[in-house]
Amino acid sequence: MYICGVGRTKFGKLELELPEIMTEAVTKALIDAKLRLKDIDAIFISNNLAGLNQGQLHLNSLLATILKIDIPIFRLESTCASGGATFYNSLFSLSKFKNILVLGVEKMTGLASDLLSTNIGTTSDLNLDQEQGFIFPVGAAMIIERYEKRFGNVMDDLALISLKNHENGNLNEYAHFYGKEVTLEKIKGSRTIVGKLRLYDCSPVSDGAVALVVSKQKRDRRSIKIQACEMATGPISLSLNPRTSMPAVKTACKRALSSAGMKILDMDLIEIHDGYTIIELITMEDLGLCKPGQAGKLIREGKTKLNGKIPINTDGGLKANGHPIGATGLAQIYEIVTQLRGEAGKRQVNAKTGLAHNIGGMVGSCVVSIFKRD
Ligand code: COA
Repeated sequence: MYICGVGRTKFGKLELELPEIMTEAVTKALIDAKLRLKDIDAIFISNNLAGLNQGQLHLNSLLATILKIDIPIFRLESTCASGGATFYNSLFSLSKFKNILVLGVEKMTGLASDLLSTNIGTTSDLNLDQEQGFIFPVGAAMIIERYEKRFGNVMDDLALISLKNHENGNLNEYAHFYGKEVTLEKIKGSRTIVGKLRLYDCSPVSDGAVALVVSKQKRDRRSIKIQACEMATGPISLSLNPRTSMPAVKTACKRALSSAGMKILDMDLIEIHDGYTIIELITMEDLGLCKPGQAGKLIREGKTKLNGKIPINTDGGLKANGHPIGATGLAQIYEIVTQLRGEAGKRQVNAKTGLAHNIGGMVGSCVVSIFKRD
């Protein structure tokens, strides 16, 4: 199975509504794949919030109306892991179909901040979390507290993660914060959101869409092989997870590496789901890049920068590329495909293999995918 075409919109505050955002990504992916809509056998849509934010469910039928098609279209939701979970499910359909399209979309801006936080928070446990006042920034602040109790001060390392991701995002013209100058001082001095969590430790609220054309056969030399795609689920509530580690991440990663017949250190680049900077840090440990408590050392040594041994989030990650929830998991794949094709311009790294880590909640679902240039 191969990714034969990719297309995306810019991420950020877009003056477009769901139909236009979806259409732009689909059109670009088809052009990139040199295919026409009539060549696509089925479409899989990833979306999390349209029901709550826009009052619009049944995006599959909405898309059929816009594109004037009648092929099977499905919509799947797994909170911030919607993209990865939709991609995972779509691959089974290639036993029947030749070319499919996977589309991720979200419109998040334009709502009052507290209403949006409540909407995003519905993806946590109703009784254990929501009714106790849990929202996601609170969860991230709790993980920072847990990590510091165990391993000591981490805030300077988190600032370095944020800086790296903003530097990378500044080389990605589609990124939410493309063109925004960000310094270490600005990050460290940014306003507190909750607990020790600063503004620059958070991913932003973004609109955007990404589409991928996935084919059963290799189409041309730009086609990128899907070496593995595995998923694991875990407890929905942070209070049920261990202190500074996410079992679903470890399991999904182990399954994907085993299915690919590879080791984590075989990866030339990694996209980590840095919804908050602390998540990038603990994920480096859960993926097995280093022992627990050691991720900060790799970050301080510059190992995860563009010119480092294991570049992480070359597109800017969720922090700077942006986080339109339903599109995010596919944006990670878009970046890996772009890098493996050698088409990443100023942020190009030397890569033959790449891994995408996409999570939902903290951490209720995790999808890990591995790609290879062959
Ligand atoms: N990082 C850096 N700057 C940010 C930012 C972020 N995460 N979020 C907003 N800003 C900037 C805006 O660009 C704007 O800058 P400007 O004044 O120069 O234009 C300014 O801060 C105010 O933006 P606003 O949208 O009013 O901020 P806010 O206080 O309403 O929202 C957060 C800030 C952190 C609460 C919001 O971005 C958020 O909720 N992020 C997390 C989203 C989430 O939970 N996603 C899923 C979890 S994985």
